[in-house]
Amino acid sequence: MAVRIGVPRETDAREQRVAVVPDGVRALVRGGASVVVERGAGARAYYGDALYETAGATLAGDPGAIYDTDVVVKVQRPTPDEIARLRRGTLLISLMAPATHPETVRALLDAGVTALALELVPRITRAQSMDVLSSQSTVAGYKAVLIAADALPRLLPMMTTAAGSLPPAKTFVLGAGVAGLQAIATARRLGAVVSAFDVRAAAREQVASLGATFVAAESVSADGETAGGYAKEQSEDQQRRIAAAIGGHIAGMDIVISTAQIPGRPAPRLISAEMVHRMRPGSVIVDLAAEAGGNCELTRPGETVETGGVRILGPLNVPSMLPFHASQMFSKNVVTLLQHLIKNGALAIDMTDEITSAMAVTNGVTA
Ligand code: NAI
Repeated sequence: MAVRIGVPRETDAREQRVAVVPDGVRALVRGGASVVVERGAGARAYYGDALYETAGATLAGDPGAIYDTDVVVKVQRPTPDEIARLRRGTLLISLMAPATHPETVRALLDAGVTALALELVPRITRAQSMDVLSSQSTVAGYKAVLIAADALPRLLPMMTTAAGSLPPAKTFVLGAGVAGLQAIATARRLGAVVSAFDVRAAAREQVASLGATFVAAESVSADGETAGGYAKEQSEDQQRRIAAAIGGHIAGMDIVISTAQIPGRPAPRLISAEMVHRMRPGSVIVDLAAEAGGNCELTRPGETVETGGVRILGPLNVPSMLPFHASQMFSKNVVTLLQHLIKNGALAIDMTDEITSAMAVTNGVTA
């Protein structure tokens, strides 16, 4: 029998994305699966029900039908209500924040569900096209610059006009991973002068290739990253050296975009209140790490804080602000993962597989 895949409507009020877009449904149906989509699931991302029907999905008004399937694919960490709907043995694929929400993992275990957490896609070339953290960070990095530009009382590009000359905005990107690099590229496209910093030595070349200046290179140590390509948590002494190196630089910036994160850990505190107080009135900090506590000491997640004329924005769920393309990319990632898990038209969960085993937080098959 065909693998049945359910796509529910996201229940988090702030979540506008959908896990599978109509093109994703088309690819899954072509592969022999059947897809049930909850009515209105894609509405907030501008994928209407009619598009899903044309793509070959069955629409269901009742979430019960979505959860009565072999695989449920969603964006956000499942709520207790959603977990209660899952049948034993169902495969759940979604974001799960397993490191910070052990209670969700416990509930999934109790429900006898096999859960694959999208945060845990291994950083290997084969899994790159399944990596939602990367695709969504791309969207977030781009949007962060637009948020900053919107809040800035100045223009970003240099302009020479009959009404005088305007200097370009100085933008500093702290953390040059996927989001940071996209922020650099976006700020450059808008004409800003861009500098960046990261603890991983490998980021240096990437920053330079985008036309930005790498600052405080002397405080980057060769052992700043793990074998998996993630940044390591810095020692207190290293943190102090980095703060000293970037503190002076930040004072002259119009825009600071901070993206520094360590998976499963609180975000490193890199911008102190004192550094903010040295910035010029009118400058803007967009803290993309707000969800993980923030890179700036003054960040309040989901709020804008103003001090001495400097605004610190801590936007939450930034990818959801661009739901059309964020969903399209998310969908491409999860459909590629599903194609990896479906062999000859049947679901084949192989816990010895490098990708599946890295992502599995519960294994309902053997529970
Ligand atoms: P992330 O979202 O985990 O963190 C953002 C950036 O903050 C990272 O570049 C990190 O080095 C930096 N950071 C952490 N602590 C810092 C500190 N104290 N000061 C300054 N910067 C700090 O990073 P993301 O976007 O996931 O990228 C990390 C690396 O992994 C990149 O090289 C990226 O290209 C690579 N990557 C590889 C993938 C694959 O091979 N499948 C998939 C995704 C990323």
